[in-house]
Amino acid sequence: MSNPLVVANWKMNKTPAESVELVQAIQDRLSGNEVADIVLCPSFPALHPVSEILDTNKVMLGAQDGHFADQGTYTGAVSMSQIRNLIDYVMVGHSERRQYFGDNNEIVARKMQAALRNELTPVLCIGENATERHQGETARVIHDQLHMDLVMLTSQDVQKVVITYEPLWAISQGDGHGETASPEQIKHAVAHIRETIEGLHGAKAARAVRVLYGGSVNADNASGYMKIDGINGFLVGGASLHPEEFITIATVSGENGSEKEESQEEK
Ligand code: PGA
Repeated sequence: MSNPLVVANWKMNKTPAESVELVQAIQDRLSGNEVADIVLCPSFPALHPVSEILDTNKVMLGAQDGHFADQGTYTGAVSMSQIRNLIDYVMVGHSERRQYFGDNNEIVARKMQAALRNELTPVLCIGENATERHQGETARVIHDQLHMDLVMLTSQDVQKVVITYEPLWAISQGDGHGETASPEQIKHAVAHIRETIEGLHGAKAARAVRVLYGGSVNADNASGYMKIDGINGFLVGGASLHPEEFITIATVSGENGSEKEESQEEK
């Protein structure tokens, strides 16, 4: 079993200099013995300066997005091949990309391919909005997104993917304290994610895939969420901008993750 994974999504916050400071503050507080793998995703302009001070024994670097083409006539875009030497992970299909930048499932599928072609680990974000949840459509939305977003990948590719379940209604307005999903709701969604992947790409892919939860994760709820069956870590927005809080989340994820593994081994 791989370590729990905690990904910090800083969204459109921090200048390059402020990002360097934040990375430094996080690294200073880490002992390096944390059991969780930690990935920090600053904005594009911060990737290079941050990579220069990164302590790779403690943290890894990721991007919040990347274009599906490797180069070409796409003004203003950044391709994964342009940044692949700086990063290990890339977020794909975050709901804010889908909502504000037109990233539909076809584009997301091509970005998934681009990530793997560039030897990056894609962190695919999926999840239903409030209306879909109220209409009882959550399972269908998860199924359709997984079907369309992973359609260009082989089962072997899918084993390398990280999936984040992020119900849109639980994403905070930047403070890490939005409406929260209940452990029961998350458990059902995560089980459905693995069942769907098993149906589409086989049992091996369903077992290997890491599934994270995202949506108002903070230092108070992380430990409880981490106990949910099938959860391998978190994608953290607002709370990841605060070094102390983020370290607490990473630490409790590691502790609860290893406890969970021990109890599974006993079964
Ligand atoms: P949040 O953001 O933790 O602030 O809710 C999560 C995300 O959008 O990735």
